[in-house]
Amino acid sequence: MSLVLTWEKQNLISIEPLSLADINTIFSLARYYKQGTESGQLKFDALEGRTVINLFLEPSTRTRLAFEIACKRLSADCISVSVGASSLSKGESLKDTARNIVALGADVIIMRHSSSGSADYLSKTVDTPIINAGDGSHAHPTQALLDTFTLTERLGDVKNKKVTILGDILFSRVARSNIHCLLKLGAKVTLAGPNTLVPKEFEAMGVTVSHNLKDALEDADAIMLLRIQHERQTSTHFPSIGEYTTSFGLNERRAHWIKPNAIIMHPGPINRGVEIDSKLADSSNSVILEQVKNGVFVRMAILHLCHAAHTQTKISLPK
Ligand code: CP
Repeated sequence: MSLVLTWEKQNLISIEPLSLADINTIFSLARYYKQGTESGQLKFDALEGRTVINLFLEPSTRTRLAFEIACKRLSADCISVSVGASSLSKGESLKDTARNIVALGADVIIMRHSSSGSADYLSKTVDTPIINAGDGSHAHPTQALLDTFTLTERLGDVKNKKVTILGDILFSRVARSNIHCLLKLGAKVTLAGPNTLVPKEFEAMGVTVSHNLKDALEDADAIMLLRIQHERQTSTHFPSIGEYTTSFGLNERRAHWIKPNAIIMHPGPINRGVEIDSKLADSSNSVILEQVKNGVFVRMAILHLCHAAHTQTKISLPK
C-alpha cells in the first residue's frame, strides 16, 4: 500500500485557486506526516539536500517556527531571514532580494510581508516555489489550512457545520483565508463583531454577518476568535480596547451562550482578557494549541507538494 498524490501547483499564495480535491490532498499528506511523527518517525526525506529560505519581514512566532520545524522534519536546510538582518533595510528591493536568494540556491522561499499582494508579486518574479506566510491583510493560507485541518479532526466532515468568526475581520488575513477555505469545505460561516470591523459587504462572499453576539454564538459548532490588528488599522474602529472587550470579548458569562461541545479556536497570538478570557483559552473547549501543533504537519505537506510540483516529482509514499 502506498499514498499516491497528484499536485501541480508550485506556489501557495492564497486559498482561492485551490479546489476541494487540492485541500483534501493537503490534509491527506498532513495526516500522513502526523501519524508518522506520532508513531516515532521524526525525520522524513522528502526535501533532503534542499534549501528553504524563510523570509520573515514581519514578526512571527508560530508560523516561522512551524515552518522551520517542518523543514527540519523533511530533512531540508532552513535559513530564516528577518527584515532587520537583511539588506532590505539598506534599500534593496524585494525583487532583487528574491533574485539573490535564488542565485544562492534556494529551492523554496517562504515569505511573510506587511504588503498585500507581495507574495503574488514574488511568485511572478522568480521561478522558485513561493509559500505565502501572510501578506498584509490579504491572505494567510497555511493558517486557514491548519485551522480547517484541526476542525476536521474534531468535527469530521465540516460540511454544513456552523463556524462563527468573531473579531477584527476587516483587517484579518486569517479571516479572509478561513472564509474561502471553510466555504470550499461546505461549512456555514457567520462573521461577528462591531459593524465597523464586520461590514455587511462581507455577505457578498457567501457568509452571514451578525452584529448580535448571542445570535452568532449560540448555534456555532466552532468559534474562531481574532485579535484586533492594531498594526494594520490606520484609524480607530471602536472607542477603546476596554469597550471592545465589554461588547465583544468572549468571557465566562457569554460562554453560557455557546453549545457545551463547541470548539474555541484562535490563530494566536492571543490577548488574554481582551478578545478571550484566560479561563476559556485554557478550557477543554479550546483547541488553540492543537492548531499550533497541526501547523507543523500541514506545512510539511505544503512544502513537500509545492517542491514536488516544481521538480515534477511524483509523490508516492509507503503507508
Ligand atoms: N497565527 C500566526 O500567524 O501567528 P504568528 O504571527 O506568531 O506567526
